[in-house]
This record gives sequence, C-alpha cells and structure tokens, in this order.
Amino acid sequence: MKPNMQRLQPTELAVASALLTQGQLVGIPTETVYGLAANALDPVAVAAIFTAKGRPQDNPLIVHIAHPSQVMSLVSSLPPYATALMDAFWPGALTLVMPAAPSVPRIVTGGLDTVAVRCPSHPLCHALLSLCGLPLAAPSANLSGRPSPTTAQHVISDMEGRIAAVVDGGACAIGVESTVLDLTVSPPCLLRAGGILREQIESVLACAITVDTGHSASAEAPRSPGMKYKHYAPQHSLTLLRGTEEQRRSWAQTVTAVTMLVCEEEQPLFAPLPSIVYGCLARPETLMQGLFAALRQADTLSKRIVATYPEGAAFAAVQDRLQKAAGFQFEVLP
Ligand code: TXA
Ligand code: MG
Repeated sequence: MKPNMQRLQPTELAVASALLTQGQLVGIPTETVYGLAANALDPVAVAAIFTAKGRPQDNPLIVHIAHPSQVMSLVSSLPPYATALMDAFWPGALTLVMPAAPSVPRIVTGGLDTVAVRCPSHPLCHALLSLCGLPLAAPSANLSGRPSPTTAQHVISDMEGRIAAVVDGGACAIGVESTVLDLTVSPPCLLRAGGILREQIESVLACAITVDTGHSASAEAPRSPGMKYKHYAPQHSLTLLRGTEEQRRSWAQTVTAVTMLVCEEEQPLFAPLPSIVYGCLARPETLMQGLFAALRQADTLSKRIVATYPEGAAFAAVQDRLQKAAGFQFEVLP
C-alpha cells in the first residue's frame, strides 16, 4: 500500500512534474475528465497505471502532448485529415488514432500498431505537460468500470493508496471524455462520442464519417478495445427511461424506491420520486458537466436508479455514457 496520496495545489506543479519524471502516477485535471498520468515512454510507469485502475492490459491508453508539433514523435506517419483536425480542434477534446511510431511502448497501445493522441486545452494540464517535457499516457482516473472523475475528490475516492498525488484543478469544464476518432481508416471512424460533436468534425472535413461506438450487438471485435468492457457503472442498478411525457408521468405514479436522474425540465414529471437534477436540456453542455458526479451521488441515495434518456444529436456523449452505465437496459413502459 502506498502512503496517503498528496492533493497538490495549482502552485505545486513542480512536485507533480518531479513525481512523473521519477516514474510515479499523478492524477491530472483536463478539460474533459481527470486523467491518471504516467510518462508514456516508460513501460514500467505505464504498467503501474493498469494495476492502479484494475484495467485490462489490452485496453490502450491515450497519449497527451503539450503542443501539436510533438505528435510527430509518436506517429509513423500523419494520415489524411490529421492536420486539418489538429488545426481545428487542438488543443481540445478530440483524440486522434494514428499509426504508432516504433518508439511508443506497446504497453501504451495495448499491443496495437496504432496510438491515440490528444493535446488538452486545460491550462494546468498544458503547464504540467510543458514543465515535465514528457508525453503523458493517461486514461480517466477512475477505478476500471466506475464513472469517470470530474473533481480531484473523485480521484481521491478511487485512487487513495494507489497513486502518489492528484493535482487539484477544480471541476472539469466539459465533464465527459474526449471524442475518439480513428484516422487509420477511410473515411475516418468515430470510436467514442465526446466533447466534440460528430457534426463539428464533419463540417471541418466536408465529408461524412462513420460511427462505431460499440453499441450494436455485432459479433465482430470492437475497433476500440475499451468498448467491450463495462463502463461508468454506479454500484446500484441503473436503467434508462424513454417515452412520451405522458408515459413517463404515469410510470412515475406506479413505482417506488427509486432515485431519478433527470434534467431540470423533466423533474416535475417525476414529482413524487426523489431525484438528482444534473443539468438542463436547453443547455446540453450542462448535462455533460453534471453526469458523472450525479452517477456517483446516486450511489449514496437509493438501491435503484432510473435515468431519463435525452433525445437528439446534441446529447450523443451523454447518451453513450448512460447506455454503457446502464448496460443498455431500458425500462419497458406500458
Ligand atoms: O478525455 C479523455 O479522453 C480522457 C482524458 C484523461 O484525456 N481520457 C480517457 O482515457 O478517457 P480512457 O483510457 O478512459 O479512454 C480511452 C479510450 C478507450 O476506449 C480506448 O479503448 C480508446 O480510447 N483507445 C486508446 N487507444 C486506442 C487505439 N490505438 N485504437 C483504438 N482505440 C483506442
Ligand atoms: Mg475511461
């Protein structure tokens, strides 16, 4: 067991940098969710990430860089569209899957010959990447299968005794993970919905992309290894509710002993039931910001959680996380 982890303040980045240089693990804030970082070029440090999270070794990690130009040290070639997408979305919440350079340890890529790269926009994350001068491999800093952390306290809850430190950068601005786009296929394929919308990518590329986010019951191996594992799950049972306003209102009169996870506008429909409001439909970004904290909070309240399912393209990332957290289980409405 490691000694208690340090909660580092933004003024203590030099401590975080020294720990990373020594091969230790540090929780870092990003604009999406907190990451669990290690030197991406140190296979021993990277192996410790998998141990700390309880993460299967074939689930590859994203490599984070301070400046877009550093991508050239991680890839063997830049695929079509890479430059246009980096210009449009970096620094920011877009992860690009590209052919890996031989220098990238295969433990980072889960044995694949591709590497996922992201250039985060969070000022503290950027400052730390610049200070340590290393590419940092960082999955979300939750125990494998749990909701991703959006505050330093979430990281401490999951990682106390497992990692050296967390840098406290406050709550994450976006609140769901980056969009993952595979550029090794043509047209590019969206592997995970996230902070950047499919429509934003298509408008930069001026072409349609494909989507393979692991939601179909296809027997084929998923293109992103992470898709086959249980994700984001609260400890209690979670199901999703979809239906007309009237159906949902009547349903609410028939059930007991559930905690609802709802948007502000929907709360009156479920008035008799306890509920956690995690954002409002009129501002889709608020749902992304609040979702993971709400899933963690729901665990403390009731044995059974029912979440409403927001409809529409603006909610793609929230829909994806809810579906995975619920194991794709929907309530059957009369
Ligand atoms: O916003 C984010 O992306 C956060 C922050 C910390 O940057 N990171 C994050 O990492 O969400 P993680 O490990 O929780 O999710 C990475 C996802 C996984 O689904 C993984 O399978 C996929 O990216 N991935 C990584 N490398 C890949 C590759 N070479 N090919 C296909 N998928 C890959
Ligand atoms: Mg994750």
